[in-house]
Amino acid sequence: MAADLSRVKRWQPERLVMAAKGRVEGKVVLVTGAGHGLGQADAEALAREGARVIVADVDEQAARRVAEALPAAMALHLDVTCETQWQASLAKIMQVHGRLDALVNNAGIARFETVEQSSLESFRRVTAVSAEGTFLGCKTCLPALAASGAGSIVNIASVAAIRGNPAAFAYSAAKGAVLSMTRSLIVHCQQQGYPVRANMVLPGSHDTEMVRQAYHFAAPELREAARRHEGKPQHVADLVLFLVSDESIRLNGAEIVIDNGRTVA
Ligand SMILES: NC(=O)c1ccc[n+]([C@@H]2O[C@H](COP(=O)([O-])OP(=O)(O)OC[C@H]3O[C@@H](n4cnc5c(N)ncnc54)[C@H](O)[C@@H]3O)[C@@H](O)[C@H]2O)c1
Repeated sequence: MAADLSRVKRWQPERLVMAAKGRVEGKVVLVTGAGHGLGQADAEALAREGARVIVADVDEQAARRVAEALPAAMALHLDVTCETQWQASLAKIMQVHGRLDALVNNAGIARFETVEQSSLESFRRVTAVSAEGTFLGCKTCLPALAASGAGSIVNIASVAAIRGNPAAFAYSAAKGAVLSMTRSLIVHCQQQGYPVRANMVLPGSHDTEMVRQAYHFAAPELREAARRHEGKPQHVADLVLFLVSDESIRLNGAEIVIDNGRTVA
């Protein structure tokens, strides 16, 4: 029997009005490390759904290239390991937009070294970007996020934070720190009565430059397993979009593994 589409046709104008309003319409969102890879995909997904995105990266040219292709986006040069650059970035955002609704702490670097291969300098560099960078982002932006009335922080960790990862020793340590500091941050916000929530994303392999480098160092059987489960940056971006949006308003402290089931296999 043919479906009766007369009612559906009547709904069309309402559906168009709904579609014109994005899922994060008008939100001011800062994404770090957004010049390439997962951060770039986050910025693109957020802008597509109506956010005013601040595309921040230590690679200023890449940040500009991404921002110029997006509506209502702005590029910022930000090395997340530098506290004064964080303060200057926030000041610029407040000057331009007058508010900050969400922060995606995405910037990270990996070095593929075991505990024996890693120098102290190398360990400190990796943890400086992921762990100290996330700390500085949360600390600097917390007052503005609280002032927004419903702030959202999304901290990008990794499945390396919850599994032994001998080939990327410092990286695992840094991502473990991201998880534990996020939990402490959430409790602090609750104790202080700040309307700010925070959630953690733990990606497995997704096709970016970082992962292509990781494959170069990985044992063949691990490389094959990772490739079988590999996702695209847009898959992580869809999750980040959800966590920034009010659709996830009750999520606070979620640690979401996104790896196509690899860690439970
Ligand atoms: N791609 C994956 O499969 C995967 C898996 C797990 C976790 N992650 C995490 O996702 C995040 C993004 O990774 P990616 O794969 O897109 O990496 P990527 O190397 O493709 O991109 C990283 C971005 O961070 C920027 N960056 C590096 N150091 C910075 C600094 N000090 N300040 C500001 N920006 C800086 C780079 O310029 C680059 O634009 C990282 O935190 C990474 O650890 C990625």
